Amino acid sequence: MAVYDRFARFYDRLFAPFESRFLRAWRKESLAELPTGADILELGCGTGANFELYPPFRRAVSTELSKKMIDIAVGRSCGSALLQADAQHLPFPANSFDAAFATLVFCSIPDPNAAFSELRRVLRPNGTVILLEHVRPPGIAGRLFDVLNIATTALIDDHFNRQTADLAKTAGLEVKEVRKKAGGIVNLIVCRNV
Ligand SMILES: C[S@@+](CC[C@H](N)C(=O)[O-])C[C@H]1O[C@@H](n2cnc3c(N)ncnc32)[C@H](O)[C@@H]1O
Repeated sequence: MAVYDRFARFYDRLFAPFESRFLRAWRKESLAELPTGADILELGCGTGANFELYPPFRRAVSTELSKKMIDIAVGRSCGSALLQADAQHLPFPANSFDAAFATLVFCSIPDPNAAFSELRRVLRPNGTVILLEHVRPPGIAGRLFDVLNIATTALIDDHFNRQTADLAKTAGLEVKEVRKKAGGIVNLIVCRNV
């Protein structure tokens, strides 16, 4: 992804103020929902901000589209296999993982339905999906995000008005819980592969 190849060098510095204020706590809460001792898959691992929060695993694979983001993530390795892959075309056989997760990724995926369908394919039945995503907030703020979305998609390929929990449900996942953060601008979404 060209945008993140360009951002990679600045990404951690750009996010540092958010990490220390709230993002790291939300990451921790999200990854605490993953099963332990399992086969786990991360989509769009970026520079590896979640690596030190992975639960004890049997096998972990961290995937990412941008080569430049991977180059930074390599230095943070947590024992997972790091792989360049598009979430819309995952290079794994069906029923490969017990759980999958993504943080701040589904806003950038061009076809989220394709990515959900791939997730469902590579997850075992009853597998867990954990998402931490910025989404279209409820109420009047949602309209503002619709307008913002015009600029963010054009400039940084980032969809500011995605309704990710609804998309997950439409794709056939069971959405078990949606925890709203920051007035609903960010959602921690817990799903099950049915
Ligand atoms: C905002 S960053 C989040 C990175 C990391 N997950 C985090 O929480 O810091 C979005 C990431 O999603 C990746 N990404 C975007 N589209 C993708 C796709 N189709 N498949 C895999 N990764 C993708 C980008 O390259 C980028 O690293």
